[in-house]
Amino acid sequence: MRFRTFPKIPDLPISILGFGCMRLPVLDGDASRIDEEAATRLLHGAIEGGVNYVDTAYPYHGGESEPFVGRALRGGYRGRVQLATKCPTWMVEGEGDWERFLDEQLRRLETDRVDFYLLHALNGERWEMVKRFGGLRALGRALADRRIGYAGFSFHGSPDDFAQIIEGYDWDFCQIQLNLLDVDFQAGLAGLRLAASRKVGVIAMEPLRGGLLAAVQPEAVRAVWARGGRALSPAEWAWRWVWHHPEVVTALSGMNTEGQLRENLAVAVTATAGALSPMELDLAAQVRRYYLERMRVPCTTCGYCLPCPSGVSIPDVFSMLNTTAMFDSREATSRLYKGILVSRGSAADACIECGECEPKCPQAIPIPETLKEAHELLGA
Ligand SMILES: NC(=O)c1ccc[n+]([C@@H]2O[C@H](COP(=O)([O-])OP(=O)(O)OC[C@H]3O[C@@H](n4cnc5c(N)ncnc54)[C@H](OP(=O)(O)O)[C@@H]3O)[C@@H](O)[C@H]2O)c1
Ligand code: SF4
Ligand code: SF4
Repeated sequence: MRFRTFPKIPDLPISILGFGCMRLPVLDGDASRIDEEAATRLLHGAIEGGVNYVDTAYPYHGGESEPFVGRALRGGYRGRVQLATKCPTWMVEGEGDWERFLDEQLRRLETDRVDFYLLHALNGERWEMVKRFGGLRALGRALADRRIGYAGFSFHGSPDDFAQIIEGYDWDFCQIQLNLLDVDFQAGLAGLRLAASRKVGVIAMEPLRGGLLAAVQPEAVRAVWARGGRALSPAEWAWRWVWHHPEVVTALSGMNTEGQLRENLAVAVTATAGALSPMELDLAAQVRRYYLERMRVPCTTCGYCLPCPSGVSIPDVFSMLNTTAMFDSREATSRLYKGILVSRGSAADACIECGECEPKCPQAIPIPETLKEAHELLGA
């Protein structure tokens, strides 16, 4: 295993591969029924393989991921890892909620301290809410009494939102979606570099784009990688691209089979920053172009169309519509759509066609019409 450090925490080596607890093996396809035996074996195997960063969050697996992690880290494993979890910011309705969630999370995780604590899924709108409801004061209190070790946030908003949030608090770290496809999406590479310039360490999430970059590749993509002259699997190309960037301290993967864990551990033993040649970076750019040309809707997830009075997460819906078109992944993306957006009431079917969003979209997207198309495809 290779290790890197956060700029503000130089004495704490962090494994470049982190274990994400959002896609654990489950029973009967039910996300809220974690297959504890298999998931515990994977988590322990990762730790034995050198992984020392474990990431979960309040809502994962219908609220079952945190209690699972608490149980799985019994027997001495807790002391071998840095434990990260996230406050469900969208559920906060007043200042007292920050303490309420953190105390509940400590109980669920069977610990008296969360090493890395994140405000979950910030965007511009939630950032304003965090400030209004005293979220930053609450972070300060939790840092002072050591219920949390380091304060950070995970991000799903526009580049402008990201810049504001980075400048708005003395963060220890942040977590952004980063993979060889999403260089100009949400925070993107510009956000990676901005964070690094402010000494905010970056954790990459979705390094395999939720598994899509590692799945069976179209012939055209296989042909591009073959020009690299190295017999690497699609997953390995994706990993090596992420770890090529020295600003990435660790990258989280939701591994759910022993084979995936073995492969990812093996790459993490040899991957180094700056290791890809200019020719290999160019191949990655060609693969990116292939997928981006298949996007269904030119949404940049800038978020200017928000807030929607009916609570539709317009950029998230469009991002899922694009994922389906690019990767031909209707079934898997539909599961995510229902699990995340429909269950929170922020899917496309909440649109009442008021028309408020459309004039605000710099890409002139016919939003209500495209939302309907998305729901027909993903909500069925
Ligand atoms: N804070 C946030 O807002 C947020 C959002 C997203 C994620 N996260 C965190 O980041 C973690 C990582 O995100 P992610 O799970 O989407 O990461 P990811 O690595 O992009 O995707 C994980 C999926 O990739 C597949 N996979 C992993 N290793 C593979 C291999 N060697 N070969 C083939 N397929 C492989 C598996 O998919 P299959 O199931 O298809 O096999 C696995 O479920 C999450 O677990 C979560 O902890 C946080
Ligand atoms: S048209 Fe639909 S998506 Fe747009 S603001 Fe109105 S309800 Fe929201
Ligand atoms: S629909 Fe338009 S305004 Fe809304 S996030 Fe996408 S590009 Fe931005």
